[in-house]
Amino acid sequence: MKIVLCGFMGCGKSSIGRNLAKILNIEFIDMDNFIEKKEELTVSEIFAQKGEAEFRRLETEAIKELMEKDGAVIASGGGTVMNPLNVEEFHKGNAKIYFLDVPLAALQERLKNDRKRPLLQKPNRREVIEKLYNERYDKYLKACDVRIDAGAPSLWLAKRMAEKIRNNEI
Ligand code: S3P
Repeated sequence: MKIVLCGFMGCGKSSIGRNLAKILNIEFIDMDNFIEKKEELTVSEIFAQKGEAEFRRLETEAIKELMEKDGAVIASGGGTVMNPLNVEEFHKGNAKIYFLDVPLAALQERLKNDRKRPLLQKPNRREVIEKLYNERYDKYLKACDVRIDAGAPSLWLAKRMAEKIRNNEI
């Protein structure tokens, strides 16, 4: 079983993913961490030293490698499914894509003090988030197989998702 979590920065892909993988007893992979380990650089360093386009290329390369696994919960990056080719790669690998849908205001609150995400290190952060969110929302919807209302605490959501996945409801 390959489960991919997608959605905006701060929607809980990593925390829900980690809990979900634990409950389902399968491996958890965070794509950003996977890339950071391979490159021996942080995402911020990759953006600064090599540029965003190179980071996006590394994401596609990572997906191809990860789709060779038998089973895993994979937390994608917030921009991963903006590239339809990445969505295609996930589907070719028989992964099911879940969109963790969290309201804009909650994301703005969760991300207000973030120092790690290169796209957010700008003035007017609330506006930057709003613009990006509006540009991306429909693409998350289009990319996913299942949309999850994901405003609730991550452990509760992971438990609920695991139960529904086991029952083949989602
Ligand atoms: C990005 C989201 C980040 C990371 C990179 C770019 C994006 O992942 O991949 O900073 O374009 O939204 P998270 O969603 O895990 O923060």
